[in-house]
Amino acid sequence: MKILVINGPNLNMLGSRDKSQYGSLSLKEIEKMILEEAKKLKIGVSFFQSNEEGKIVTKIQQASNYDGIIINAGAYTHTSIAIRDALEIFNKPVIEVHLSNIFAREPFRHNSYISSIAKGVIAGFKENSYVLAIRALYQILNNK
Ligand code: DQA
Repeated sequence: MKILVINGPNLNMLGSRDKSQYGSLSLKEIEKMILEEAKKLKIGVSFFQSNEEGKIVTKIQQASNYDGIIINAGAYTHTSIAIRDALEIFNKPVIEVHLSNIFAREPFRHNSYISSIAKGVIAGFKENSYVLAIRALYQILNNK
């Protein structure tokens, strides 16, 4: 079992972003947490981060060898039909993740183009959102 974790724009800046929304860990530290959970579940995991919408679309198009995707598309969540369409073509389980609770924030963050094609959405648990997402994906892939 092999999954891809995608992080979108400005998530490479974690650690220097608003800690009350995003926590204090860097992306590298979060990836380490994810890797530890993946090891426990015996899941292979790859990471991809980009600030560019097209690069994220291309990465998703090339992800057919993965069993599932966990994606935090950052601000593109609220704007990108292209990322949504690429995930729909992927046609395997997708979990949408956010560090912050986007529904408790500004109205422009309440809409997600990704949610309608995702198996589920995990938002508001800071770095733990990713750990919860990998557990959820594990259960989906094992039909539990
Ligand atoms: C985010 C929420 C988005 O609204 C924001 O643009 C981000 C991060 C989150 O993880 O909480 O960059 O996706």
